[in-house]
Amino acid sequence: MQQLIRGRVLGFHADPHDTSDNHRYLEDGAILVEDGRILAVDDYATLARPGLAEIDHRPHLIMPGFIDTHIHFPQVQVIASWGAQLLDWLNTYTFPEEARFRQQGHAPAMAEAFLNLLTDHGTTTAVAFCSVHAESAEALFSAAHARNMAMVAGKVMMDRNAPPEVLDTPQQGYDDSKALIGRWHGMGRQRYAITPRFAITSTPEQMEAAGTLVREHPDCHIQTHLSENKDEIDFTLSLYPQARDYLDIYETYGLLSDKLLLGHSIHLRPREIERMAETGSRAVFCPTSNLFLGSGLFDEAGLRAAGVVSGIATDVGGGTSYSMLQTLNEGYKILQLRGQKLTPLSAFHWITRGNAMALGMADQIGTLDPGSMADLVVLDARATPAMALRMERSETLEQELFILEIMGDDRSIRETYVAGKPMKKHG
Ligand code: GUN
Ligand code: ZN
Repeated sequence: MQQLIRGRVLGFHADPHDTSDNHRYLEDGAILVEDGRILAVDDYATLARPGLAEIDHRPHLIMPGFIDTHIHFPQVQVIASWGAQLLDWLNTYTFPEEARFRQQGHAPAMAEAFLNLLTDHGTTTAVAFCSVHAESAEALFSAAHARNMAMVAGKVMMDRNAPPEVLDTPQQGYDDSKALIGRWHGMGRQRYAITPRFAITSTPEQMEAAGTLVREHPDCHIQTHLSENKDEIDFTLSLYPQARDYLDIYETYGLLSDKLLLGHSIHLRPREIERMAETGSRAVFCPTSNLFLGSGLFDEAGLRAAGVVSGIATDVGGGTSYSMLQTLNEGYKILQLRGQKLTPLSAFHWITRGNAMALGMADQIGTLDPGSMADLVVLDARATPAMALRMERSETLEQELFILEIMGDDRSIRETYVAGKPMKKHG
């Protein structure tokens, strides 16, 4: 079945940092979709033909769905917990909440809520940490697979420095991860991320097991946390006294590659930056979380100049919004504090093709290239009275994009398509 999705169409084919020929914008455009995939993108007049099913989203903007490269699925009821920085926040709020994912029926219910929240906010793919319990990853993959929604996810491996209800062992972490990879990696649109939570909560034996999984499954992503908070770094280095620096721990166990996503990556030493660039390891900027937990200011321009590729992400529940628009809003302000500029085109490239590139998945998601999945978001820059008033003085596409990223949230998401299927229920 073919369908034409009509509107003002915007997609990126290159990074605005590299070239001015980076996007294609069609004022009266359309996306031709067949069986969940993009067949063609062009002017409406070129693609329209009698008898073809059509949906008209004019005057709204249609873009590739947003990609969130770091989010914690079991933290949907941790978001907005008061007053702590990272290690306190984990111990006080997060670990006890993640313990609830052992309970029968909890993970499946939360998985449905989580996926609804993502698509309500325009996010069509997420890279998610699950809880330590295999059932949490099982629930998320099952729910995402049923929606044909692309997830990259993994159960966290953690065997120390947390309550027993959220600990596994090196063997159990290995066995559970291995079984989940066997069941879910490459099943439809699901992909597995090997997920040692961070060095503090894994013994050297467990890091070794994570390294074994990486060697056995080189096609899987790997996700963890790096240098988010000063106290975290000090504690980490005290646990691994032989390490040259924080990154060296992950390197020792063979985790560094272009499949590795390093959440936060804020307080880095020059050697770490150099090794991330050499190995292709990705940094992931989590603006709302970094401000909320008082963690620090990400050095986007510095990392890019050094050759490190960065993704951008919400990091809910340390992060305070599911919205990639609000994530850009806070990201813009962090970069202002560092004297760095994020242009509107770079911002929207980042949450679409840029994040897809960081994941090595730009052939499937993040662009409007024919052959990509029809994961799309429909954006309304006049979604609130304040936005509508501001839009009266907007004259260019870039101004509209900036208004969307600074003032927009889920109210600006008119529709979200996952593999060609509308996911947002109105009214
Ligand atoms: N470091 C280890 N675990 C976490 C987590 O759940 N959230 C954040 N922000 N940092 C972490
Ligand atoms: Zn995180």
